[in-house]
Amino acid sequence: MRTQVAVIGAGPAGLLLAHLLHRGGVDAVVIETRSQEYVAARIRAGILESSSVELLESVGLGARLRAEGHEHRGIYLQMPGERHHLDFVDLAGRSVWVYGQTEVQKDLVAAGTAVVHYEAGEVQLHDVETERPYVTFVDAAGRAQRLDADVIAGCDGSFGPSRAVAAPAQRFERVYPYSWLGILADVAPSTDELIYAWHPDGFALHSMRSETVSRLYLQVPNGTDPADWPDDRIWAELATRLGHGQDGWKLTPGPITDKSVLPMRSYVQTPMRRGRLFLAGDAAHIVPPTGAKGLNLAIADVALLSRALVALLREHDPRPADSYSDDALRRVWRCTHFSWWMTTMLHTSGDEFDAQLQLSQLRWVTTSAAGATGLAENYAGLPIGF
Ligand code: APR
Ligand code: PHB
Repeated sequence: MRTQVAVIGAGPAGLLLAHLLHRGGVDAVVIETRSQEYVAARIRAGILESSSVELLESVGLGARLRAEGHEHRGIYLQMPGERHHLDFVDLAGRSVWVYGQTEVQKDLVAAGTAVVHYEAGEVQLHDVETERPYVTFVDAAGRAQRLDADVIAGCDGSFGPSRAVAAPAQRFERVYPYSWLGILADVAPSTDELIYAWHPDGFALHSMRSETVSRLYLQVPNGTDPADWPDDRIWAELATRLGHGQDGWKLTPGPITDKSVLPMRSYVQTPMRRGRLFLAGDAAHIVPPTGAKGLNLAIADVALLSRALVALLREHDPRPADSYSDDALRRVWRCTHFSWWMTTMLHTSGDEFDAQLQLSQLRWVTTSAAGATGLAENYAGLPIGF
């Protein structure tokens, strides 16, 4: 087989890149190890920044998002006895949208612009430092395949082969001493906008997917077994940390349909390119989920990468491709800092000095316009290309 861009991975980065390339008149073929059903059902992120929404809308992917997504003006920050609302629209002129990654993924599949080979095995990248790179894999029917391309886009997340093939000059990493226990519950959210809670027992987050589905998280120690957290224990701990009973606010529990433990990590590898291999999304960087940046960063990467590849392959202009890694990394580092900052401000470490600094920082972002605006500007997201 032959295509212009061989895309490894059919997550949001890979599928959106294929869609953007198609609109720019560049052919792409996507290779994915998992089945289409598995990819569609994975529970992932849920918040879109305004620049992500604008991009999706500008390429014909905004209809269901506008109809079924929910626009939020801001978030709540909760500390024992206090809850503060930060209004991003007032502070930074931008809102965010609650719309699950799984929904973005469904819209991309429905758009039908990407040719995807699901259930590919033994995916390998070859000759990425030449102008004729190729990918070999075993297709779903067990046949050996070779896909020749002008460019390979590594969109295969943190466990795919691309990041190692990219032979990074540098890797930056921070592992946090806590994880999240996440639940999905068939119950109407107990809040109109997300609540991020600091509590001496640990961080908690009340998020949502729709009017009838809530998504909530608790800070737990690394290595936690979800089996040690029966449903009643989860709801009781969420109620304590989120401030049930404070000023008449109530957390309504409901049937839990999914329970999982997520480790927290920051990771960046540079450069995001080696020869004709370009990395985008989780393949190049991981952020802890506290700032809701992972999905938005993947979208911003492929917005830049698609423009660079259209220029390279259609206009024979290598300049945007040559500056892709530096351009993408500016935003990556901003979001890496913001995610680290939100994470370390809200998770308890057991250290009293840290706790007092956290509370002082939270007081600053909830009472000073300058502090609140900094959080709002980063959370609601900087323009693509920042
Ligand atoms: N060959 C082909 N595909 C692969 C391989 C491989 N060897 N290994 C992994 N993949 C696929 C995965 O199955 C997955 O579908 O690559 C895809 C990567 O998708 P994501 O992990 O969703 O990463 P990305 O598209 O960059 O999106 C980032 O996902 O993890 C969340 O919070 C993160 O929201 C962010 C978003
Ligand atoms: C989610 O809804 O899954 C979610 C929302 C905000 C975050 C992290 C996760 O910061």
